[in-house]
Amino acid sequence: MKQCQQLAITRFGEPSVLAMQSAEVPQPTASQVLIKVAYAGVNPIDAKTRAGLGWAAQQNKDKLPWVPGYDIAGVVAELGSGVTNLSVGDTVSGFIGFPLLGGGYSEYVVAEADALSLVSESVSLVEAAALPLAGQTAWQALEKAQISAGERVLILAGAGGVGHIAVQLAVAKGAKVAATCSSANVAFVASLGATAVDYRQGPLAEQIGQIDALIDLMGGDVGIAALNCVKPGGRVVTIPTITAEAVCEQARQRGLLAEGMLVSPSVEQNNAMMAMLQAGTLQLHVAARYALSDGEKAHQKIESGRTRGKVVLSIGGSH
Ligand SMILES: NC(=O)c1ccc[n+]([C@@H]2O[C@H](COP(=O)([O-])OP(=O)(O)OC[C@H]3O[C@@H](n4cnc5c(N)ncnc54)[C@H](OP(=O)(O)O)[C@@H]3O)[C@@H](O)[C@H]2O)c1
Repeated sequence: MKQCQQLAITRFGEPSVLAMQSAEVPQPTASQVLIKVAYAGVNPIDAKTRAGLGWAAQQNKDKLPWVPGYDIAGVVAELGSGVTNLSVGDTVSGFIGFPLLGGGYSEYVVAEADALSLVSESVSLVEAAALPLAGQTAWQALEKAQISAGERVLILAGAGGVGHIAVQLAVAKGAKVAATCSSANVAFVASLGATAVDYRQGPLAEQIGQIDALIDLMGGDVGIAALNCVKPGGRVVTIPTITAEAVCEQARQRGLLAEGMLVSPSVEQNNAMMAMLQAGTLQLHVAARYALSDGEKAHQKIESGRTRGKVVLSIGGSH
């Protein structure tokens, strides 16, 4: 059987538990395709699960080794017998194996053919790998918050993987967007169309006044502090799952409508954002690329909480 290289964990722990392993190249079932992966996106949930935190870690604890990675872009290498919508050689991207299987940190993966987006020539495979999980989280958070034109929206962590996409999607909906970041990211966040708010320059309510809706990508005390900005009856969507209940409870006590969320893979949303990338109406910022064997560094980077845009692993793609 043909072998491929993967980055896996055999136990939970620090980024150093990530290690290369050899595995058989998987065989696609009738509805799947085999993909030669060019790039895999790195997300905070990869690092949390690697550390043994959260639901996916609990479910996988007796099934190690586990290969992280939910975002991939690459080239179709083989078709399952029933696949008619793709051809060998097509470039595709997808949000795969979420939340249990993962598997993207690998030279080859199989995925359901109808869960993949075609990547047009004008979109790079790096962007295509950086988009799915973060983009769909941004999209679904704005939908849940029912953001409409003319409303004032505050997005916490506007410079991060999800945040920099959420800012652009909210601006495209015609909302008046403010987004928090450190001073180092003020120009970047402003370039996306938001009023950039430096969270170290004083309480947010004093800096921006009242808003209609809050997209909380920080959670915890930062998310709770930002509730002061939301107008009575306003909406809150808090995205980090671990603190969602605490933020929602505080929000409800203040008479706000609050919800947490777990992103759900949607090929339609991925296609829509791929079209925006192609049209130039959405920009993806990739802060850093690492070789698969340098995944430890990629996890240290994502765990720093200071990433501007996305982190990506380069597997079969060029650096
Ligand atoms: N529930 C779900 O389905 C779901 C899906 C996706 C993500 N998430 C969660 O959502 C969160 C955001 O994900 P992500 O991928 O966007 O993370 P990320 O890319 O790692 O976010 C990094 C950004 O956070 C900013 N930041 C750090 N401290 C800040 C503060 N006090 N105020 C405002 N911004 C701050 C940093 O900007 P500065 O350096 O400028 O401070 C940096 O740009 C994570 O907790 C992730 O696990 C949940």
